[in-house]
Amino acid sequence: MDRKIGMWLYSNGGGDKIQKKIVKKLKERGIESITDINLRNAIAKKGHIYHGKTIVDDLDLFFSYNAGEQTQYQAFLYQALNRVIPMINSYEAFSLTEDKFQTSFLLQKNGIATPDFQLCHRDNSIQLAKIMNKWSKMVYKPTDGWGGVGLTKIENQATLDMLMPFLNQMDLRFFYVEKFVKYDNTDFRIDIVDGEFVGCYGRKASKSDWRTNITSGGSVFLRDPDDEVIAIAKKAAKICGTDIAGVDIIYDLEREEYVVLEVNGIPAFPTPEQEKVGINFNKKKIDLIVDMIDRKTKK
Ligand SMILES: Nc1ncnc2c1ncn2[C@@H]1O[C@H](COP(=O)(O)OP(=O)(O)O)[C@@H](O)[C@H]1O
Ligand SMILES: [Mg+2]
Repeated sequence: MDRKIGMWLYSNGGGDKIQKKIVKKLKERGIESITDINLRNAIAKKGHIYHGKTIVDDLDLFFSYNAGEQTQYQAFLYQALNRVIPMINSYEAFSLTEDKFQTSFLLQKNGIATPDFQLCHRDNSIQLAKIMNKWSKMVYKPTDGWGGVGLTKIENQATLDMLMPFLNQMDLRFFYVEKFVKYDNTDFRIDIVDGEFVGCYGRKASKSDWRTNITSGGSVFLRDPDDEVIAIAKKAAKICGTDIAGVDIIYDLEREEYVVLEVNGIPAFPTPEQEKVGINFNKKKIDLIVDMIDRKTKK
């Protein structure tokens, strides 16, 4: 085989089976895969990045797909590696989508509706009070979080006053807040690979939470997206430069339009349980990824 790629894919939630399928399909096209290249164990020296005996920077491409275990060291090597070989997603798209402020800023700038947001310096409590006055309800968001963790709904000045000492303790550089969007507590997760629509499902928040994340008690359901919401997801993925994206969208009942909450650069493949309820776009997703790797490694 004259082409060789490196891969780091999560193994829980059916990830191991997905990996096997990708490796098999790549092999059919004459592409060899070296799996489980965890950059955590890699060393850079003499102009190369070594993972065991593998010289990672000599590979034809690196496919990085493990959200949960990404450390600063790995991101650091990701950046270096991306300067010399193609990566999925590119380092640029990866680091952009890891940050909710950077993503929302770029999306808004390019005409994609997102929730209203404001970013201000941590010492600018005057601005924060002003925003609170204007919006009456807002969401404090860590810009690098996931799974709904750390999101705090601020419903009045009293909540804000209570929260401030905690936030001040956390040694933050800034405050990123969004206007609280009035919506029906359901969202759309739309998967895009290589600019193509792959599939969609919905998530619904539990009765006791306003967040749709599974980790916050939300549940998944089959959902048929309309052309408009698909077009928004495609456009958002393109603006972010993501080869693979899972775009989170909700419908703003006051503005009467879809708003993009975030773009995930490593959207999990539907799990075996989710496949059972009919969320069955994994084959399509795998095929599109394999096609893309084939194209990007063509010599
Ligand atoms: N501005 C907002 N207004 C209302 N609900 C929101 C807002 N932002 C996020 N949410 C809710 O919180 C959930 C998590 O937010 P999200 O920005 O996707 O962060 P995470 O990376 O933690 O999933 C969303 O799925 C949605 O249900
Ligand atoms: Mg989300």
